[in-house]
Amino acid sequence: MEKIAFFDTKPYDYESFTKYNKNYDIRFFEDKLNPGTAALSKGCRAVCAFVNDDINSEVIDILRENGTELLLMRCAGYNNIDLKYAEGKLTILRVPAYSPYAVAEHAMALILLLNRKVHKSYIRTRDYNFSINGLTGFDLHGKTAGIIGTGKIGQVFIDICKGFGMNILASDPYPNHEFAADRGFEYVSTDKLFAESDIISLHCPLTKDTRYIVNEDSLRRMKKNAFIINTSRGKLIDSEALLRALREKRIAAAGLDVYEEETDVFYEDRSGDIIDDEVLSLLVSMPNVIITSHQAFLTEEALSSIAQVTLSNADEFFSGKTEFANKVRAEY
Ligand code: NAI
Repeated sequence: MEKIAFFDTKPYDYESFTKYNKNYDIRFFEDKLNPGTAALSKGCRAVCAFVNDDINSEVIDILRENGTELLLMRCAGYNNIDLKYAEGKLTILRVPAYSPYAVAEHAMALILLLNRKVHKSYIRTRDYNFSINGLTGFDLHGKTAGIIGTGKIGQVFIDICKGFGMNILASDPYPNHEFAADRGFEYVSTDKLFAESDIISLHCPLTKDTRYIVNEDSLRRMKKNAFIINTSRGKLIDSEALLRALREKRIAAAGLDVYEEETDVFYEDRSGDIIDDEVLSLLVSMPNVIITSHQAFLTEEALSSIAQVTLSNADEFFSGKTEFANKVRAEY
């Protein structure tokens, strides 16, 4: 049986992969993959990693020295891999889509919570405080949602927003005109999208072009009542600029499932620690900010799909195939 070393695993990974695995000897490690832990892969021809593992050149060298040929990403994004360095050294396969619904629905959950202040009323009523002062929201119906990135998740999110009766503006360097015509929305420049949207939701990957797509300048273009929602990758937003915009009341709210410095914090119980990230601490403390811990993907359906596709990626590799539909390509 081929051995696969799984890094950064949680109980839900163990459950879903154990349920679907028949062919592999899986070693589940809780540690993240980094230069200090990469040696755990010794003897494993395949390694399975997740969003906050750091697959840099040092890690790639250690994996290769230990006999690893295949890197299985049990996620869609791969911005945490030094792709250039990995070329010719590792075959990298991913799960391009597991449930666009999971992520898009979570984005809408953040909007609804922030707008109708459900996080506040939940705490109030648990303390028998039935006052509704300060909980006023607005109708989403008739408002404008600006969607950056109209791939699989962005498209589902557009359909959800349309269900709420919202107008749609979208930006994407590879626009899907057929989908836009069918759903009746237009592609606009990112500048126009920032200036005219009431809700801005990020559904593009993290690339050199999208890093800090939300920055001091774009935040200054936004409406005062705008919400910014990020369920994609933390580094799409300059968090310090976001914090300034929120403090100066230049935008209304932020819903963040990802954060640029999330690696040491997200997915961990840090409730007993002093968090030494001031930006994160201040964001967490704000009534108009909701942070979830990179959980947008976390549905039963998505976990099953991640396990099945990851294992079938491994099957393809170990059956001797050399062409893979789910191969990560460096040019993206
Ligand atoms: P996708 O590849 O189907 O769509 C991404 C879209 O973004 C494409 O249409 C692409 O042309 C567009 N894009 C690229 N550069 C852009 C730019 N500069 N401006 C605007 N659009 C741009 O990807 P999918 O499946 O929709 O996922 C989107 C992102 O969601 C992933 O890259 C990942 O970072 C994130 N994600 C987050 C999860 C979570 O749990 N929070 C789970 C899964 C994905």
